[in-house]
Amino acid sequence: MQKYQSFLAEVLIPEDILKNRIKELGVQISRDYEGKQILAICILRGGVMFMSDLIRHIDVPVAIDFMSVSSYGVGNRSTTGQVRITLDLTTSIGDKNVLIVEDIIDSGNTLNSVIEMLRTRNPRSLEVCTLLNKYSRREVDVPIKYCGFNIPDKFVFGYGLDMDEFYRNLPFIGVVDLEKYEAEI
Ligand code: IMP
Ligand code: MG
Repeated sequence: MQKYQSFLAEVLIPEDILKNRIKELGVQISRDYEGKQILAICILRGGVMFMSDLIRHIDVPVAIDFMSVSSYGVGNRSTTGQVRITLDLTTSIGDKNVLIVEDIIDSGNTLNSVIEMLRTRNPRSLEVCTLLNKYSRREVDVPIKYCGFNIPDKFVFGYGLDMDEFYRNLPFIGVVDLEKYEAEI
C-alpha cells in the first residue's frame, strides 16, 4: 500500500484530464511536424511518464533519447542556474528536429541550461514540450512551444514527479501538504 493519502492536499489534475490533454498535445505536435521526423528527448526522471504517453499520440516518425541533469548544491525544492549533465544523450542531435520533453518548469533554470547546452550541438530545430508550467515562479525566461497545464505555485507529485524519489507511478498529479509530509517521514 502506498501512503500518499495522508499528505495529499488535493488531486490537482485527475487521470482522465491528463490523458485528454496529452492526446491534444500529440495531435498538435503531429500537425506542426507534418512531413518531418522528431527526436524527442526526455529529461529524466520526471519526464518519463509524460514522454511515453505523449509519443503514442504523435503520428510522424519519432526517435527517442534520454538525458539527466542535476543542479549544483541546492535542496530538492529549488534549483540554481548551474546545471550539470549526469547522463548524456547517446545520439547526435546535429541537424535533427529536437523536442525536449519535461515534466515541469519552475524557475526555468534547469531547462534554460539544457537548451543552452543542446543549442551548441546545432540541432535543426529545438522546441520545448512541458506537461506543467509553474509560471509564477519563473526566474529565467524559457521558450515553451507546447504546455499541458499552467499550475499554481504548489509542490506537486505523481505522474512522473516525485516526493523524495517515490510516487512517480501515481496516475494523477496531486498537491503535497508539505507540513503533513514532513510529519510523516
Ligand atoms: P527549475 O529548474 O526550477 O525550473 O526546476 C525544474 C525541476 O525541478 C523539475 O524538472 C522538477 O524535477 C523539479 N520540480 C520543480 N517543481 C516541482 C514540483 O512541484 N514537484 C516535483 N518536482 C518539481
Ligand atoms: Mg525534472
